[in-house]
Amino acid sequence: MKIPMLDLVAEHAPYRGELLAAFERVLDSGRFVLGSEVEAFEREIAAWIGVPHAIGVSNGSDALLLALQAVGVGPGDEVICPTYTFFATAGAVARLGGKPVFVDSAECCYNLRADQVVAKIGPKTKAIIVVHLFGQCADMDPILKAAQKRGIPVIEDAAQALGAKDKGRQAGTMGTLGTFSFFPTKNLGTLGEGGLITTKDASLAERIRKLRVHGAKQKYFHELVGGNFRLHELQAAFLRVKLKYLDAALKKRQENANRLIEILRERWSAVMSLDACVCQGQGEAKNGKSGAVFLPFSCHSGVGEHTWNQFVIRVVGSGQRDALKEKLAAQGIQTEVYYPRAMHEQECFASTKGSFPTATRLTQETLALPGLNWTELVQKLEGSLP
Ligand SMILES: Cc1ncc(COP(=O)(O)O)c(C=O)c1O
Repeated sequence: MKIPMLDLVAEHAPYRGELLAAFERVLDSGRFVLGSEVEAFEREIAAWIGVPHAIGVSNGSDALLLALQAVGVGPGDEVICPTYTFFATAGAVARLGGKPVFVDSAECCYNLRADQVVAKIGPKTKAIIVVHLFGQCADMDPILKAAQKRGIPVIEDAAQALGAKDKGRQAGTMGTLGTFSFFPTKNLGTLGEGGLITTKDASLAERIRKLRVHGAKQKYFHELVGGNFRLHELQAAFLRVKLKYLDAALKKRQENANRLIEILRERWSAVMSLDACVCQGQGEAKNGKSGAVFLPFSCHSGVGEHTWNQFVIRVVGSGQRDALKEKLAAQGIQTEVYYPRAMHEQECFASTKGSFPTATRLTQETLALPGLNWTELVQKLEGSLP
């Protein structure tokens, strides 16, 4: 039996008819770019997130680029961001000629360490990008407080965390700007590519709308140098269908994650849990013996605040994660390593100075398990785990 990371065919089956109807609606409209579907989607998702402005864009990577451009990041500017993240976070900074200033991660939630963000703010800091990794919000309050004091914009990279909360506040509503991805693996995935930027600031929203279409409010009259960062009508129409089911889908992810935790506790003797959050560097997390498996830890998250975009365990000890990955593969269980290399270890960021020991450990120890988007996968997993 094969157990894939995701089963997108099964996920879409219940609303196949609605997706086909959305396709026909767009086909029959003859309007494929920036029309009524994008406008309606922007209104609907803004209401769902609880933010006044939501701008649909081409993808989550471009959303980051536009957000940084909107707050004026340019050549030589420093932007603080985590080293343990998907490449797009730091890549967007470099695409604008800026310099990513990396911070280490916390062993509890794998999010960036807020205390290190605060410590690294300097005269060249132009912005801070906080990534809400794997569906769980980072510790926002200390970062927001320090940034506000110095007038530095905070961008929340919420590509993996649509619907996540930090003390009741939605991801993408706490900082100056929020960015999201609708890549098919995300909490709200489309049938292709898409992204979103959220903000409470009307003038930033206006600037981003211009940047999305080559910096022109009026066609062929360019106030800024932007690009083609448009969300397609077809993707907006699909997203409108799936948005109606997002609350139910997030509830299902939560249930599946809880069930996976129960299953692993029952089946694997080496399972351990952390007792406390170490996001602020309040001491080392429990290390565990070689082969110990740490379950995902919901740090700041109250009930329902973690959206479980990925279920990521940590397997302690050299080579232990890879051995488990192979063992699971032999049972037909697909797993993924998010991420095998941190940003400071990438060839393109080879000039980075400093050491990031937790991030490096996470690249060697973390393993994402399948099954969160479809309950049947969790049931299959239960029958197949070694
Ligand atoms: C944290 C993070 N930021 C940004 C992105 C980029 O999003 P996209 O793939 O839509 O460009 C991703 C996508 O995986 C991501 O995980």
